[in-house]
Amino acid sequence: MITVFGSTNLDQIGTVTRLPKPGETVAGGTFSMAPGGKGANQALAARRAGAEVLHVSAVGDDAFADLALDLLDKGGVDLSQLRRADAATGIAMIFVDAAGENVIAILPGANGTVSPEDADKGLAGLTARDTLLVQQEVPQAATRRALEIARERGARSVLNTAPFLPDTAKLAPLADIVIANETEFSLLTGRPIDQLDAAMQDWVNQTGRTIVVTLGPDGARARTPDGPIAVPAHKVKPVDTVGAGDTFCGYLAAGLDAGHSLEAALRRAAVAGSLACLNPGAQPAIPTKADVDAVGFQLM
Ligand code: RIB
Ligand code: NA
Repeated sequence: MITVFGSTNLDQIGTVTRLPKPGETVAGGTFSMAPGGKGANQALAARRAGAEVLHVSAVGDDAFADLALDLLDKGGVDLSQLRRADAATGIAMIFVDAAGENVIAILPGANGTVSPEDADKGLAGLTARDTLLVQQEVPQAATRRALEIARERGARSVLNTAPFLPDTAKLAPLADIVIANETEFSLLTGRPIDQLDAAMQDWVNQTGRTIVVTLGPDGARARTPDGPIAVPAHKVKPVDTVGAGDTFCGYLAAGLDAGHSLEAALRRAAVAGSLACLNPGAQPAIPTKADVDAVGFQLM
């Protein structure tokens, strides 16, 4: 089983022809709301990949909470460890332009109240057969506690370094597998992007653990103590890349939890992340197992 410990948001999405600059007003476009938040997105992705998923998170005691939870609920994600906080449901304000570029501002609300005690309670049932998946949209002390619990129980732990926070480098060595995009990995190691391979190898030498770096249209690379792996993306014309990274993380965790090799799990995750770029919104765009299988057959 997969336990996701992290955020839940309701995304407020403005689709505009061009992104406004600071101080500028741009008129026109369309508005929509969709369930989001990195934790919730990764939980749904792992679920659509075929895993049993428990989502440990907090939402507000407001009307947005039900909208934020709608797809997790319908998708069969276990919400029994979800706390209703005395705060607003987390909100992400997102603008996406005609080329698929986006800007996002996050208003954490209830996510900001997630605590180490929430980890103790929500992860009470975590066992050595399980996988813990965490991101960085809840306070780092809570994420740290979740990673420590996984370590104590012998569960597999996966940390997605998004969004990058100042103390990420202190947290990352607690996870069995770190998933970063190129920018986050460069911030994590202090090394320029053109030293990616050397920096990945140094990471493995220093931590003895696995690092995965996502490269957008160029797929993903990983280094483990056994060596390097590279997998391609599935070529698509992106409409909206919001949620693609989360889809990758959820699929990767689900593949590993199901007992697949890291390379096999990475291949499916890269295809799933590409497919998530084909539709607007985060959770509405997460592909199902059947969608990913269909591409797999085409590739053979
Ligand atoms: O990773 C995408 C997510 O980031 C969106 O769903 C939004 O909620 C922001 O948190
Ligand atoms: Na999308």
